[in-house]
Amino acid sequence: MCGIIGVTGEPDALPLILGALHQLEYRGYDSAGVALVAGGEIWRARAADGTHSVADLAALTADAPRGHAAAIGHTRWATHGHPTPENAHPHVDCTGRLALIHNGIIENHSALRADLVANGHTMTSATDTEVMVHLIERFMAEGSDLTAATRRMLGSVRGAFSIAVICADEPDTIVAARRSTPLVLGLRDGTAFLASDIPALIGHTREVYALADDELAVLTPGHLHVTTLEGAPVIPEQLTITWDLEAAQKGGFPDYMSKEMDEQPLAVATTLLDRRGAGGELILDELRISADELRRIDKVFIVACGSSYHAAAVAKYALEHWVKLPTEVDIASEFRYRDPVIGDRTLCVGVSQSGETLDTSEAMREASRLGAKVLVVSNVVDSSMARHADGVLYTRAGPEVGVASTKCHLAQIVALEILGLFLAQIHGTLTAPEIGEILNAMDELPALMTRTLSRRREVDEVASKLTDARDFFFLGRHVGYPVALEGALKLKELAYLRAEGYAAGELKHGPIALIEPGVVVVGIATRNPLWEKMLSNIAEVHSRGATVVLVADDGDEEAAAVADHVLWVPPTSPLLSPVIGVIPLQQLAYRLARLHGHDPDRPRNLAKTVTVE
Ligand code: AGP
Repeated sequence: MCGIIGVTGEPDALPLILGALHQLEYRGYDSAGVALVAGGEIWRARAADGTHSVADLAALTADAPRGHAAAIGHTRWATHGHPTPENAHPHVDCTGRLALIHNGIIENHSALRADLVANGHTMTSATDTEVMVHLIERFMAEGSDLTAATRRMLGSVRGAFSIAVICADEPDTIVAARRSTPLVLGLRDGTAFLASDIPALIGHTREVYALADDELAVLTPGHLHVTTLEGAPVIPEQLTITWDLEAAQKGGFPDYMSKEMDEQPLAVATTLLDRRGAGGELILDELRISADELRRIDKVFIVACGSSYHAAAVAKYALEHWVKLPTEVDIASEFRYRDPVIGDRTLCVGVSQSGETLDTSEAMREASRLGAKVLVVSNVVDSSMARHADGVLYTRAGPEVGVASTKCHLAQIVALEILGLFLAQIHGTLTAPEIGEILNAMDELPALMTRTLSRRREVDEVASKLTDARDFFFLGRHVGYPVALEGALKLKELAYLRAEGYAAGELKHGPIALIEPGVVVVGIATRNPLWEKMLSNIAEVHSRGATVVLVADDGDEEAAAVADHVLWVPPTSPLLSPVIGVIPLQQLAYRLARLHGHDPDRPRNLAKTVTVE
């Protein structure tokens, strides 16, 4: 996710642009930049220090021209190309008379880049975005004006985009368009605005309009002209803004956690984007570890903490099933101090949304010292773990502000399973059709997640019946076991309730002695190879008086027969099912936290990133 802002009709808009970028930093802050039209030229400044880019950018604009025309600003969450000044937006064309900013991913950027270079264009970044501004340059050179050239460019690209582009030859004009990623427009007196979302505009106008998918807007001072990408006129929907600024940053949600739970389908969809080549094969551009090196791997370790460890535990089942490689999963704080058997044919994967967790980063350092190839799965481009690893695979969930990990956790599961399929492709343990079938099932996940999220009221109703419960077991088998661990962690860290995640088959070896009336057992009973055994384990605890809550596939009446409450989810293939099954457990923990009067965004004793031992 990136943040974009544009203003025309305001002759000294830089303070407004910088303030808006600060509001939008929660969407990404790897780098930031501004461009404006002044004196018949494009003036541009960019900063990329990874964390304080907007503040650094402000210092660079001290000598910017005042009395300018159109202006645009961008704060970046890198997906293609490291967060360096060269990769920071806005990007300019060969003539330097166009500047463009973008939020999204252009899937066919490689082919477009090759064609542009072959036709004499000089590219100055490693981003997908840059191809767009050079295409506009090409079409304007053929006689199109800025708007027509932008339309033609948008007809050439595939993927998700919110863009804004300015031109020195049309100083007061900003052309904007969107597909799949958000963009809002605003008007106030003789000024027109655009932004990634409402928080950036709230302080300046409440006359805000939504731009819909495949629509294009031409902004001039005090005017908006909206059409479809093909040019048919559109009357944009005006939004009623009742939020205050703080509420707006949460997108109207009461807290970041509920906003980020709602973003989970997009986080998974974006993580899945642009992973397939023209022939349907998996391509992992950013991996940095060659296929030959991966072909030599004969053992895999996956090491992490907390929710990231639970994602790793799901991946164990997938990798062993798909790749037939021994796959050990360990919590980083233990891995570091035992004597893991590691050699130069071991792949050690560190999973960390922040890329800064000390236990996990030290574990990776130890694995590297022992000769392993180190790959990091992280949500922060060029985080310290990503920088020190041999290879990286990024989740693209956008910044996660809530202390309890939600969208990053699910994106990690998907990223690790993509890695598993990539290893299966290289090791030849799955055929291309088999891989394609699994990827097709993955592509269905965002829609299934949206359906699951929409059932929140059913979860709230169950939560309201458990307000007095103080003792929870979360049980699962096969990939349901890591889901149980994650559900227990969420309840502990958000509602401060005693909750133990356990392998259901292990309960009879002692812990079942704890089962009595009043104990709540939450079972993960979505279909997987051990579903029948799972129902038997649940029947054992139900017969001993436990209150049973089951996560079960829609229509599974056999599961419902052994439960007091059912949290229904749409079915998917077993190895992908944790991406769905975790959602009602997040919602259950969230609701119980609220019922107990706790703030889900600021759980006691916790920090978002643990950079101490
Ligand atoms: C999860 O809800 C917790 N916030 C915590 O367990 C977290 O997953 C863990 O600290 C690992 O963080 P990382 O992914 O940034 O390494």
